[in-house]
Amino acid sequence: SYVDYDVEAARKGGFAHFMLKEIFEQSDVFQQSFRLAFSHLETSALLRHAHGISVIACGTSYNASLLFRYFVEKECGTPVRVDLASEYRYLSTPEDEVVIAVSQSGETADTLSALKKAAASGCPTIAITNVQGSSITRAADRTIYTGAGPEISVAATKSYMAQVAAFVGLLAGMTCSETSFVECSVGQAIEESLLTDVSEAVSLCVPASTIFYVGRGIFYPVALEGALKMKEISYIHAEGYAAGEIKHGPFALLSEMTPAVAVCLPGDGYHSMLGNLREMKARGTPLIGIGYGDDIDLQDVTDVCIPIPKGDEYAQVAAVTVIMQRIAYYTALALGRDIDKPRNLAKSVTVE
Ligand code: G6P
Repeated sequence: SYVDYDVEAARKGGFAHFMLKEIFEQSDVFQQSFRLAFSHLETSALLRHAHGISVIACGTSYNASLLFRYFVEKECGTPVRVDLASEYRYLSTPEDEVVIAVSQSGETADTLSALKKAAASGCPTIAITNVQGSSITRAADRTIYTGAGPEISVAATKSYMAQVAAFVGLLAGMTCSETSFVECSVGQAIEESLLTDVSEAVSLCVPASTIFYVGRGIFYPVALEGALKMKEISYIHAEGYAAGEIKHGPFALLSEMTPAVAVCLPGDGYHSMLGNLREMKARGTPLIGIGYGDDIDLQDVTDVCIPIPKGDEYAQVAAVTVIMQRIAYYTALALGRDIDKPRNLAKSVTVE
């Protein structure tokens, strides 16, 4: 007798796809990446004393970077601008800004050339990357590695979580705050969200022509990333929107064929968000809410309500991210897509 040994299946560790395996690694990845970044106290001090911070990135790394702006401006008040690396060449580069280039691969051509432009203007530069010795580490003054480990799936999941963790770790250093609760609360939120039932949400997404992802505040960039995941692997058109902007255009598109995934959590903007949802509902949009399980008002306005565990903002971001990744994954699975290798996409893009 012999053992039918499939190397590819073994590397997936029992998961049907690398993407799902990588989604499941995120609790460990968050902790690892948070600690790595938090240990860079000199870099945190540099950021703390900066007049301004500029972050440049592409794709998923850009979406992670947008979160940093909300976190820093709230906790430290330091102005943060976040630019798409491909647009950075058309913009000014004040030399008193600290520039952070964020790239999972460290090889993205647009990010590399934007970083070189910043360095040539005399800005102190920091690279955040997942790949040891990658090109951006050589172009930056200092490097912070994310601890995601190799990511095989083209669609980024754990590398995004690692970047968010790195930003939270840097922020903890900038504000000199106690950190142990962060790792704990986020890890638990991720673990719980890996097991939450998303099947009803997936049923609403599979037949859709367009899916809107909406949120306010920190959940606006999280919505952008949720939409990006959906379009990358399911090939359904999806768009992330700031909830307050839906009335400025997308209203014309809303129908039974355009479900919306909406993040609605207690706190700043909660009532405005509920108002936005009611307006969407009135136009026939099937609504998938992501919020707290005991939120009766949210359950009232949505068709499906997916609960996340109660926690701080970082735990909320992590939980919502995992839920959105899993909605995209199971939608793509139901549609029979090539999940780990979506058509026309590459893991890293080395042309401008
Ligand atoms: C490609 C990948 C995306 C990634 C983007 C930026 O488009 O398919 O998943 O977010 O490049 O990549 P980077 O390696 O710079 O983070």
